Amino acid sequence: MRTLIIGADGQVGKALSSLCVRRRIEVYGTALAGQGFLYLDLARPETLAPAFEKSRPDLVLLCSALTAVDGCEKDPALAEKINSEGPALVAEECRKAGAKLVYFSTEYVFDGKAGPYGEDAPVNPLSVYGRTKLEGESACLALKDALSVRTTVVYNHDTASRNFIMQLISNHRAGARMRVPRDQYSNPTYAPELCAAVLDLAEKGASGVYNVVGPDWLNRYEFALRACGAFGFDPAFLEPKLTSELGQPAARPLTAGLKTDKLFAALGRRLPPVDDSLRRIAGILKQYE
Ligand SMILES: NC(=O)c1ccc[n+]([C@@H]2O[C@H](COP(=O)([O-])OP(=O)(O)OC[C@H]3O[C@@H](n4cnc5c(N)ncnc54)[C@H](OP(=O)(O)O)[C@@H]3O)[C@@H](O)[C@H]2O)c1
Repeated sequence: MRTLIIGADGQVGKALSSLCVRRRIEVYGTALAGQGFLYLDLARPETLAPAFEKSRPDLVLLCSALTAVDGCEKDPALAEKINSEGPALVAEECRKAGAKLVYFSTEYVFDGKAGPYGEDAPVNPLSVYGRTKLEGESACLALKDALSVRTTVVYNHDTASRNFIMQLISNHRAGARMRVPRDQYSNPTYAPELCAAVLDLAEKGASGVYNVVGPDWLNRYEFALRACGAFGFDPAFLEPKLTSELGQPAARPLTAGLKTDKLFAALGRRLPPVDDSLRRIAGILKQYE
């Protein structure tokens, strides 16, 4: 199966790329810059067709997005272009190529009043990021057999990523204090396990919306404490705060998180517990000591 990863140098794109290589899947990746990637900019529609022509994909994994939630709030026009219009362009290229499309969506399509949410729960995004990602999801799902994977709080050991766990590690190393919301509940999701489940769903021909998240429903402070426990860090540098104290431009869904019964029905498994994944990262950190 020829596979095209759009946004192959982002956190999820990189984890998908290594998994495809391990599974001996013929894979192509796009990026805005960098050697070994096909060039594709969602803000420049003319760059899509050449990447599709070169890769001739059967499967397209759309990871690219404007992922800075507060950045989207500050520049809604750019968020609209990348997160709403970009996926519509990708869906059209997939239609022309006859390729299956997998879109990476988010729990931010919900308002966080009644999580964790199933796939059919009514959406009500609070932020520009959530709204534009939902528009991107709708554009993709209009394509026959497309799959939208909703996920959240994705983490991995990835030195180029600003994910929550990498921020925690760098704050601890720098001796800096870290303000952590204690009222944002969701399901931390380990990128390698997310990617394995997504490829398995795609291979089984799953379509429509699937939640793919870790099994533990935690607030961000609890997640940070679990990470400190796994890594042997003294958690004294953490400052638990209410989201309202953080002064973030974009509103966050507080009681969020996603249910994974549909994933379990499709694959016969859920993702491994957060403590297992954090232990794997602790093992990687030990190698660098
Ligand atoms: N991370 C999470 O917790 C989380 C939660 C829910 C959903 N998701 C969704 O999962 C997907 C992957 O997230 P991630 O964690 O891998 O995010 P990420 O690390 O921020 O990666 C985003 C990717 O999008 C690319 N990109 C940005 N603007 C682009 C443009 N104009 N054209 C083409 N590519 C562009 C970036 O390229 P550059 O690096 O070159 O800028 C980067 O490769 C996203 O769709 C995100 O919305 C993520």
